[in-house]
Amino acid sequence: METKYWRNHVVYQIYCRSFCDSDGDGIGDIPGIISKLDYLASLGVGILWLNPIYPSPQFDMGYDVADYYSINPEYGTMEDFDDLLEEAKKRGMRIVMDLVVNHTSNEHEWFKQARDPSSPYHDFYIWRDGKKKDRKTPPNNWTSQFSGPAWTYDEKAGQWYLHLYAKEQPDLNWRNPRVLEEVEKILKFWLDKGVYGFRCDVINQIWKDSLKDGKGFAFNGRGMEHYLMKEGNHKILKAFYNDVFSHYDSVVIGETFKVDKANGVKFLTNHELDMFFEFDRTNVDRRSVPVFTKKFRAKNLRKILYSWQDAVEWNANYFENHDQLRSLPRFGDPKRYFYQSGSALACLNFCLRGTPFVYQGQEIGMLNLPKRDPSLSKDVTVKTVDGIMRKLLIPKPIRKKLLFQIDRDNARSPMQWDSSPSAGFSSGSRTWIPVNANCKDINVKKESKDKNSLLSYYKKLIALHNRSDILCFGNFHAYPTKGDLFVFTRSLKAKSILVLINLGKRKTAVPKPFRKVLGSVALANYLDAKASNSFLRPYESLIIELD
Ligand code: NOJ
Repeated sequence: METKYWRNHVVYQIYCRSFCDSDGDGIGDIPGIISKLDYLASLGVGILWLNPIYPSPQFDMGYDVADYYSINPEYGTMEDFDDLLEEAKKRGMRIVMDLVVNHTSNEHEWFKQARDPSSPYHDFYIWRDGKKKDRKTPPNNWTSQFSGPAWTYDEKAGQWYLHLYAKEQPDLNWRNPRVLEEVEKILKFWLDKGVYGFRCDVINQIWKDSLKDGKGFAFNGRGMEHYLMKEGNHKILKAFYNDVFSHYDSVVIGETFKVDKANGVKFLTNHELDMFFEFDRTNVDRRSVPVFTKKFRAKNLRKILYSWQDAVEWNANYFENHDQLRSLPRFGDPKRYFYQSGSALACLNFCLRGTPFVYQGQEIGMLNLPKRDPSLSKDVTVKTVDGIMRKLLIPKPIRKKLLFQIDRDNARSPMQWDSSPSAGFSSGSRTWIPVNANCKDINVKKESKDKNSLLSYYKKLIALHNRSDILCFGNFHAYPTKGDLFVFTRSLKAKSILVLINLGKRKTAVPKPFRKVLGSVALANYLDAKASNSFLRPYESLIIELD
């Protein structure tokens, strides 16, 4: 197997808007990121993935790009970005950008031109007449991923345009070869600047095979069977590889909502993607309509994780990102076992085979925002779904409870650097989204001073990952267990690492064959941990180097 940089380095995800604000306007920026590079280097991460930092009207927080070739002035200038590349490089870190090309912003020049049916840009987007040739009945029954119709009528064009997300995010028409040409130009522009690669937004939805009605009822995403992972989609990704990525030392990470195993394998073996995010793991406590949750069970997570370990050669391992609620309150127990459950989850994420991803703040155990009035949310999904709920006359307390579960602001609150009112995120007193008041207890400064903090555990874990060829490249082998227990090995040549994790609050018996172990503890989250144990304590995790 080729030793690519992305196989033995950890990715740290930076949500620029909420990471560090250098000028006191309450919005994070690139100079802010630069000021924290020493912190990131001390963590030991090797790749920084930045959520979109392009100019954007921010209807969907940057996932509505208005210009692919420049930097959002709120975040800085191209010069700042060049400095970031250089300063990161000095510290041995590489930068990954977000590539958002299923759609653009409706304020992108292409779309502005496209509204004129005689413009060469008209065909950059997907336009159709309404079913009844009127302004009331859209061309088909698809619903957007954010809920509501996936089509909007445009007066100027005199037609409807497709948007799988918000109406401010019109979908590009990938059947037009000029779209591919333009996007490949964008890829080369950033790669030539020194960017290491891309996390490709909803990349398995870009090719629409047909525009026929979707089957059944779906609150959101109706019609998906017509655009998920179609042959045309694979062809485009393969073209990216042939025309662009094969000529660079790069990484291509797909965000692949609803990916199945067969398509997952194809993405990797066909060199379409280097790795991809599947969502089974973060849907483990969700019902099909995501406002409805179900109880988290470690055994369900185990089944999902192991099945993906078996199915594909390389996984993108993550429990958090900017679209998910924080993992600690979902899968752990921050009230009683803040440190233990946070570190047990980290241990699991890092010991699976694949590239580990850490989302900003996860390393200190950041939690969700307190439940708020949904009208305070900045998240377009909450705004859209709340609008529908209001029309259905759903009472506020219920809306508040349900919408909390999809409110992406939860994971987007400012990074907690210290215990001051703005959490050290900003020198200003107003931040674009509220600071979590728990920054008094959960912050980088405090955890840096404590050698037994979650942050210190992350540092040790990343250091171990970085020096262990077994953890980076070793084969994965799971042993059948019940309840909350995970037992697996990673092996390379004649050497093995045994991982034992109790992802629950009950003391749990270790299966007999693993009670007397010949080896040494490489990392544990209890101070007095031993390699041989009959029981694991609540959320105990052990990484054991076998003799
Ligand atoms: C996935 C991104 O992660 C999310 O934040 C965004 O809203 C959608 N794609 C649409 O671009």
